[in-house]
Amino acid sequence: MLDILEAVRSRKSIRGYKPDLVPREVLEGILNLAARSPSAMNTQPWEFTVVSGGVIDSIRKENTQALLSGEAPGPDFPVESYSGAYKQRQVDLAVEIFRLMGIAREDGVKRMEWMQRGFRFFDAPAAILISADRSIEGSLWLFDLGAVTQTICLAALECGLGTCIEAQGVTFPRVIRKHTGIPESKKIIMSIAIGYPDWEFPANRLESGREPLENITSWHGF
Ligand SMILES: Cc1cc2nc3c(=O)[nH]c(=O)nc-3n(C[C@H](O)[C@H](O)[C@H](O)COP(=O)(O)O)c2cc1C
Repeated sequence: MLDILEAVRSRKSIRGYKPDLVPREVLEGILNLAARSPSAMNTQPWEFTVVSGGVIDSIRKENTQALLSGEAPGPDFPVESYSGAYKQRQVDLAVEIFRLMGIAREDGVKRMEWMQRGFRFFDAPAAILISADRSIEGSLWLFDLGAVTQTICLAALECGLGTCIEAQGVTFPRVIRKHTGIPESKKIIMSIAIGYPDWEFPANRLESGREPLENITSWHGF
């Protein structure tokens, strides 16, 4: 069994997958385990919608159409605009991905092709969509969704699966709703692309950076 520390160390975003399908029972096992995640007052605000086969293919196709047609994104979650150090980290990530993928900064066509991959769940054979009921107020529930999302990604490793948490996949909730029946009464917050990693895919070599601990931690009473 995969050691928890090793799982945390080895988890990384996977942006290229083998076409092999992931059996439903495997995904069920991961979700059952991940539902052990903590949540504020054990409210368990998460709901999962798992898509594969023809359904995920239809979502991929219509996500791409929406993107290419210039449709205004309408995600159910607040869209951040980053600045300062956060913006810099975002840029550093993009630079590194484009370097690995051999995409030149000025190559608008290839950059657009790369963006489309995100809207196609990086061609993963399955995706887990995470939603929450609109009746839930405040913001603690968003924290809980984050906890369960990370746990899904860690649990997936035990089955040889890779994941990529993806806001891109749920940028057009109307597409998701059309193919899954998720009602307007639920907010569709995040997607997780999931499948067997293609280790030959260049972007999967990415080792994303982290801020040194001393820059983000203060110690008191030691
Ligand atoms: C809330 C959230 C949304 C994300 N959305 C995307 C996305 O839309 N596209 C993408 O390629 N990666 C996305 N990521 C993955 C991050 O880029 C990735 O976690 C980060 O760069 C750190 O790299 P690592 O996961 O390989 O450690 C998202 C991650 C999180 C937590």
